[in-house]
Amino acid sequence: MNVRRMRTENGTLIFRIPPDQVSSPEAAALLSEAAALLRSGETVVFPTETVYGLGAVASSPEAVRKIFAAKGRPGDNPLIVHIWEPEQLFAVGTRVPDTGAVLARHFWPGPLTLVVPVGPDIVPEVTAGLSTVGVRLPAHPVALALLRQVGLPVAAPSANLSGRPSPTTAEHAVHDLDGRVAAIIDSGPTAVGLESTVLDITLFPPTVLRPGGITREELEDLLGMGIAEQLSAPPGQKPRSPGQKYTHYKPKAQVRMVQGTAEIRLAENPGPGAVAGTRRVAVPDFAPLAQAVWDRCVRERRRSQHPAILATEETLPYYWACGARWESLPPVFTGPLVPAGAGKELEGVWLFNLGSRADLHQIAAHLYTCLRLLDAVDATVAFAEQVPAQGIGAAVMNRLRRACGGLVWDPLAGSESEAGSPGF
Ligand code: TXA
Ligand code: MG
Repeated sequence: MNVRRMRTENGTLIFRIPPDQVSSPEAAALLSEAAALLRSGETVVFPTETVYGLGAVASSPEAVRKIFAAKGRPGDNPLIVHIWEPEQLFAVGTRVPDTGAVLARHFWPGPLTLVVPVGPDIVPEVTAGLSTVGVRLPAHPVALALLRQVGLPVAAPSANLSGRPSPTTAEHAVHDLDGRVAAIIDSGPTAVGLESTVLDITLFPPTVLRPGGITREELEDLLGMGIAEQLSAPPGQKPRSPGQKYTHYKPKAQVRMVQGTAEIRLAENPGPGAVAGTRRVAVPDFAPLAQAVWDRCVRERRRSQHPAILATEETLPYYWACGARWESLPPVFTGPLVPAGAGKELEGVWLFNLGSRADLHQIAAHLYTCLRLLDAVDATVAFAEQVPAQGIGAAVMNRLRRACGGLVWDPLAGSESEAGSPGF
């Protein structure tokens, strides 16, 4: 991938800047053009390590209003302010609690947003009138080079149309925002794939309002204390994080989580009954569950639905074996049947590979791509495997619950329920 400048038919500039070429003279020219657009009050989409952001300078009400217009975002949902030097936390925010400096030193640059009391230079359009502001220093060379060039803090929500999954590639952002923003910087897929952790440090103990790239375990280890979590509004109260009340991340398909899949464990050695093509086997015996999910998909097909399964690298061959003759499986395992972040159709059922259960970061990185692909293949119903809600798995499950509207289906009991504690 080379540095390139293009313009779409709808007038949006595309600046292609591979992260490893950020210091080249060609990239510097494009970055100063993008920075000039931002400084003149325009909107520019840029990569971060989590997802692509839709930026505008945080000190200009007109510029910030363009973000809300481009996304179709409700005006009461505040934006995160992006900085490039940790000390700027004390200018964007004010009366920052002591934990702020400790957390910033340890986790910045990185996927952690600190909610602190808002300082005087941030316009109310950014905070939606709240007395606090979310601040983050992203770990992406192109984002940092851009911010430095702009020389002003930049407000940026995820660069998707409101209600769509956050963009993890520039193509996702082009799909949603072509013609609605001045420019989009394309630096390839983002590493984390889910948004930053939003941590409110004005509360004691510090409280996670959105799980994300930095895990609760990592925060507790550093601070040496338990931290709280408030992922939805307490009954009868307003949510502390307005974004919690919106149904984000929803594809058009009705997605259900599959009961019993968070418990899947992996065994190294395929035992008797293992499906050919699996590198590791899912245990306890996953075959009956896979068969029940597959049978449901076949029933949905007969009802003229377009079913899909969001599976993992290790479990996907089990479904494959239900729909295909055994002979069609590769005799010797040479790699995943379907690459991570992609899908294949088998007997009218779309099978997506979210990534390997052996590394939940992979699943985090591919979740939004797979949710967008559900729309791309016109899926109308989808069944999603769960993962253990530990480490980055907590953020994966939080986004999945939102995509499913909390719906859980138990294939072995044939019953459906809403997750008790939605956390969304
Ligand atoms: O990884 C990320 O955080 C990405 C990249 C672009 O930085 N940004 C992002 O922004 O995800 P957005 O706007 O899509 O999500 C920000 C979330 C929203 O749910 C919003 O309600 C919450 O953070 N938030 C922002 N400011 C807040 C505040 N002062 N208090 C509580 N919640 C806040
Ligand atoms: Mg968002």
